[in-house]
Amino acid sequence: MKQYVAAMDIGTSGCKSIIVDDEGQVVSSVIEEYPLYSPKPGWNEQDPMDWWVGAYTSLHKAIDKSGIDAGNIKSLSFSGQMHGLVAMDKDGNVIRRAFLWNDQRCAKQCQELLQDLGGFEELRRFTNNNMLPGYQGGKILWLREVEPENYQKMKKAILPKDYLRYQLTGEYCTDASDASGTGFFDVEKREHSWELLDRLNIPRDLFPPVVESSEVTGVVTKEAAELTGLKPGTPVVGGGGDSVIQTTGMGLIREGILGLTLGTGGIVAMGMSQYIENHDQTLQFFCNNQKDLYHVMGVMLACGGSYQWYRNTFCKGEMAEAKAQGLDPYDILNQGAEASSPGSRGLIYLPYLSGERAPYTDPNLRGCFIGMTQSHCKGDITRSVMEGIGYGMKQIGEAILQLKPVPLDRIIVSGGGSRSNLWRQILSDIFQLPVYTVSGAKEGGAYGACLVGGVGAGIWKDLDDACSTMKVMTENLPNPDNKAVYEEMYHIYSDMVPTLKNQFDRLSVI
Ligand code: XUL
Repeated sequence: MKQYVAAMDIGTSGCKSIIVDDEGQVVSSVIEEYPLYSPKPGWNEQDPMDWWVGAYTSLHKAIDKSGIDAGNIKSLSFSGQMHGLVAMDKDGNVIRRAFLWNDQRCAKQCQELLQDLGGFEELRRFTNNNMLPGYQGGKILWLREVEPENYQKMKKAILPKDYLRYQLTGEYCTDASDASGTGFFDVEKREHSWELLDRLNIPRDLFPPVVESSEVTGVVTKEAAELTGLKPGTPVVGGGGDSVIQTTGMGLIREGILGLTLGTGGIVAMGMSQYIENHDQTLQFFCNNQKDLYHVMGVMLACGGSYQWYRNTFCKGEMAEAKAQGLDPYDILNQGAEASSPGSRGLIYLPYLSGERAPYTDPNLRGCFIGMTQSHCKGDITRSVMEGIGYGMKQIGEAILQLKPVPLDRIIVSGGGSRSNLWRQILSDIFQLPVYTVSGAKEGGAYGACLVGGVGAGIWKDLDDACSTMKVMTENLPNPDNKAVYEEMYHIYSDMVPTLKNQFDRLSVI
């Protein structure tokens, strides 16, 4: 009898539910969208009830679409947008809309935290990470300072996917990978940093118990079964934070392979089989989805988002042409970029449209095109956008290798941008490494969540076993003829932020 696993990926624009069989094949996938509220610049909120409706609706549709008997779904798992704060009262009700990972309102509280503790290295002793304004910890400090009545009412501080777990099982619980992104978590001990919480006078019982991603945390209740289409009693496993679990879905659980995700944001990540001290303030060092494994990553804020902004702002003609011909506008733009040459004939794009998180953590950085001449055409400009993101990713990759020097033998790419053969080739040439895409990875975090859920259900022995079901879909090999030009362009690119920092700071206050 065939066995299946289901997963919900609670993203920022919608919830995707998928079902995967015991050979790792995706049998159905459904997305339900929900709104994002931005009441002020830099503030981003969502209503947890919208997540829940999106989650049970998409899962129910995915089960119906697959035509399988829900009794053969052996576990439910999650991939969740990380870092958000869902504040729950004593009766299990949500107190206010959730603050999201991209909400920047607590930048001041994060800075004050660092000052009070005596700097980054002091904080790092507790968590092995910086306190980025995206993280849940700063949001809790903001609530205490700005909305004390809500802070008083808050009896549990949970992460977005763990709100779904609460609705499904009635249990409060989180997993080590997602909890790593609260900024109050001791990544080495895989437990909340009680010492740091005591020092900050934050109650310990605000935080739920922590499990590993494949551990069962409860079962689907009768009420939740009716809404989702699952059978009551279906085991629910820990799941994981999206940025971590999606790299598990790319097979990246140990060092030696670099994972690049070309989504709206970009992620450069590597699995680690050991804990090491993270002295880099811009890299995020988290627990991976299996005990004893870790994960290091740097996040670029405007990756595919840069290309989308470029298309929407400068390529209205191509968009209309694509519509008329029933094509994807990116295919038309990619053709132009293909006709340019490596190095975009001396043109550089800096992708800091939203400031940056890595390789620099700096909200003041700005996007730029540098090196424009009259002879540049649109294809050069398009190509420079793809290359600029590649140089930024290489910088993060180098920072990761500085933390953990290991020989790299390949790169795995995923995310919307990885559909472009040209972009994959550019990355292969910039890094001078083979670049692959693998099966399942296009489903993002939901796929990794299914692997983890399958381990929990006993379908696979462990993550190595689960990842062995993956197949290589595409291969791009580095062209040695392009090595020299990309090396030179990379060095020029890397000089840009140190050269322009002062001007960016001045522009940011105008
Ligand atoms: C990771 C991060 C994002 C969110 C949104 O650190 O901020 O990837 O998890 O999905």
